[in-house]
Amino acid sequence: MNASVEALVKNWPLMNNNITREDLDALIAFLRQDDPILTQSSNVRAFEQEWSRWLGVQYSVFMNSGASANLLTMAALKHHAGPGEVIVPALTWVSDIASVLQNGLEPVFVDINPRTLGMDTDQVISKLTTRTRAVFLTHILGYNALEQRLIDELKRRNIPLIEDVCESHGATFQGRKLGSIGWVSNFSFYYAHHMSTIEGGMVSTNDPELYQTIRLLRSHGMVRESTSEDLKAEYKRNFPDLNPDFIFAFPAYNVRSTELNAVIGRNQLPRLDANNEKRTRNLKRFLQRLDPHKYFTDFEVEGSSNYAFTLVLKHPDEALRGRVEAALRERKVEFRRGTSGGGNQLRQPYLRKILGDVFTQFPRTDHVHFFGYYIGNYPCLELERVDALCELLNSL
Ligand SMILES: Cc1ncc(COP(=O)(O)O)c(C=O)c1O
Repeated sequence: MNASVEALVKNWPLMNNNITREDLDALIAFLRQDDPILTQSSNVRAFEQEWSRWLGVQYSVFMNSGASANLLTMAALKHHAGPGEVIVPALTWVSDIASVLQNGLEPVFVDINPRTLGMDTDQVISKLTTRTRAVFLTHILGYNALEQRLIDELKRRNIPLIEDVCESHGATFQGRKLGSIGWVSNFSFYYAHHMSTIEGGMVSTNDPELYQTIRLLRSHGMVRESTSEDLKAEYKRNFPDLNPDFIFAFPAYNVRSTELNAVIGRNQLPRLDANNEKRTRNLKRFLQRLDPHKYFTDFEVEGSSNYAFTLVLKHPDEALRGRVEAALRERKVEFRRGTSGGGNQLRQPYLRKILGDVFTQFPRTDHVHFFGYYIGNYPCLELERVDALCELLNSL
């Protein structure tokens, strides 16, 4: 590799400049006010409304993380549908599975489709039973995991679809934004994602009843958090011995966020679409330039929105894997093996303890676990750097 290409590949973090000078200035301007309210208030409400408008749904609830969004969603599902099974992917983030277990629901695992890294639709459909309470699908690293026949089958059987969109803000299916299609969806605004509120998460839905449940679950199960006067009146009527300010409907949590995080989110949202366009351009270039004999390049990019480059070796080639990792480390190119959440969740101790050694039943997830990576793809990344990275990887 020549020296100019070498220089372009050096020092490449997983994420860069995701909270900008502008965001910090907006925060400072907010803090300059006399006695601003810092706990959850009008900026949180405004961010929720602006997010709902951007996503194309009626209701959103902002909270402290994407993991909390998963947790409250599963708590609401349990409340709504009772005990039973939830179909989940073997390749996802830990909180997607932990939230199922924490609510006494039973995860039923499905292997991935290598072209989307999301759940294989045939396997999902084959695992639906009368005990299935929901399909909890993850859109991995910006790729859409939905297919129309899955949506149709779930509708036919009246099984709710839950979308985890924590890694795929702005991605679409048939022109509709992911997270606006299922019964409910979850987003994360952790620093590493498409946009950031430092830490943060959102639950979005079109179901007014679910919206009220999530609002209560976010804040100790307190009925006064509801925006429904009817619901509040009903509790007041049914529990006349209680102070209406302190009626706790569920054994819940406090996962509220603050005004500070919402101010950053509101400042970020207007530039999300433009940033995603640059990321999508970069991802397409990356997949075009990568050697398809060495690396898997046949991803389903229609509607994708990727904050990461997915680098998956074509074959289980340990020697190539060694060369890739050494070359990236040497040049301080940050990477994560296993892509989303470190790979096969079934290999993790918290699941092995319950399920034993069933992880080998998910060979496609296992391939990504051992031979898949993600590398940072952020809006200020120039195409010449993407080309240089591909040149390096192809030379290994
Ligand atoms: C698919 C998925 N779901 C949930 C989460 C949890 O989000 P957070 O880190 O905001 O808790 C993540 C985290 O990165 C994720 O990738």
